[in-house]
Amino acid sequence: MEGSVEKPMKIKVAFFDAKEYDRASFEKSNSDGEFDIRFFETRLTETTAKLAEGCDAVCVFVNDILSAEVIDQLMGNGIKLIALRCAGYNNVDIEYAYRKIHIVRVPAYSPYAVAEHAMALLLTSVRRIHKAFIRTKEFNFSLNGLTGFDLHGRTIGVVGTGRIGRIFIDICRGFGMNVIAYDKFPAGESGITYVPLGELLEKSDIISLHCPLTEENRHMVNADTIARMKQGVVLINTSRGALIDSVALLDGIKARKIGAACLDVYEEESDVFFHDFSENIVDDDTLARLISMPNVIVTSHQAFLTEEALSNIADTTLSNIREYFQYNRCGNEICYKCENSASCLQSHVAKCF
Ligand code: NAI
Repeated sequence: MEGSVEKPMKIKVAFFDAKEYDRASFEKSNSDGEFDIRFFETRLTETTAKLAEGCDAVCVFVNDILSAEVIDQLMGNGIKLIALRCAGYNNVDIEYAYRKIHIVRVPAYSPYAVAEHAMALLLTSVRRIHKAFIRTKEFNFSLNGLTGFDLHGRTIGVVGTGRIGRIFIDICRGFGMNVIAYDKFPAGESGITYVPLGELLEKSDIISLHCPLTEENRHMVNADTIARMKQGVVLINTSRGALIDSVALLDGIKARKIGAACLDVYEEESDVFFHDFSENIVDDDTLARLISMPNVIVTSHQAFLTEEALSNIADTTLSNIREYFQYNRCGNEICYKCENSASCLQSHVAKCF
C-alpha cells in the first residue's frame, strides 16, 4: 500500500525450560514486544529440539541439553544463535559448536545473589536453623542437638576467586573468618591469600566452591581429596554439581569425616531439580540418602533466584540477542577457544569466529 512502512521482522526466540518467574521477568523486559518469544515448559533435548523450528534463536538454561545432536538439529531448523540465560556453559558442547553456531551468555547477573546464598546455607547449617525451624513449628522448644559453632576465627577455603568467589570472601571477612583461596589463575594484587589446592584442603574448616566446571576439575572433591580434608569439614557447593563426586561425599558423611554439606547443585540435578516430585518416588538413591542426612542441606539450584538477578538475566539476554542480530557480533559471545584468546578472534573483531 502506498505510504505504508514495512515493519521490521521480529526476532523469534524459542525459550526452553520456562518457569513462571522466567516468563514474568522476560515479559517485563520485552514489554514493548520487540521480540517474539515462544515459551516452552519442556527442557531442550534431542526430542524437543524440533519445537524451535521457525525461530531465529533459542534461549536456554543450566539443565537444557546442547549436545552435538541437538546443535545439529537446531541448525537444521534455522537457529542461528544459542542464548544462554546463565553464566555457566558446561551443558553446551562448545567444541562441537565452534565455527557452526554462535553462543552468547549472561556472564554476571547478580554475583551477590549466589555469594549471599552460599553464606545463607553455611549459617543455616552451622547454627542448625533448618532443624530449629521445624521444631518450633511443632512447638518443640528443646535445644538439644542444636549446638553450632562460631564462624569467627574459622578458616574458610574458597576455590575460585572470580566475581562470586570474591564477594563471598568479603562476606566471610565481615564475619571475622580467616580466608585462604585457590584459583587456577590467581588474581594479582587482590589482597587474597592464595595457597596450593592441597594446602587449602588440609587447612580449611569450611570449603566453598566458586569455580566453573570443566573436564579438568570434574569430581575435584573425591575420595582422595576428602581424605586430605580436616575432620568435620563443612563443604559448600553453589557452583556445579559434578565438581563433587556425590557417592564419595555420601561415604565421607557416613564415615563422619564430613561435618556438613550445603549443596545448591547436584551432579544428577537435571533429572530432578526445578520440578515437584513430592508425590513421586525419587529413583536417585544417592540424592535421597544425602537429603536424609541431618547435616546435609540441599536447595535446588536457587542461589541465583533474586528479583535483581532475574531482571538482569532478562535484560542482558535480550540485549545479547539484539546485539547479535543487529551488529552480527556480541560482547558476551563465548566459544571453545575463548579461554585461549590467541586463537579466538573475539579480541580482534569482537566475534569469536
Ligand atoms: P568467574 O568466571 O567470575 O570466576 C570463576 C573463577 O574460577 C575464575 O577466577 C577462574 O580463574 C577460576 N577457575 C577456573 N578454573 C578453575 C579451576 N579448575 N580451579 C580453581 N579455580 C578455577 O565466575 P563466577 O561468576 O564467579 O561464577 C562461578 C561459578 O558459579 C560459575 O562457573 C557457575 O558454575 C556458578 N554459578 C552458580 C549459580 C547458582 O545459581 N548456583 C549462578 C551463577 C553461577
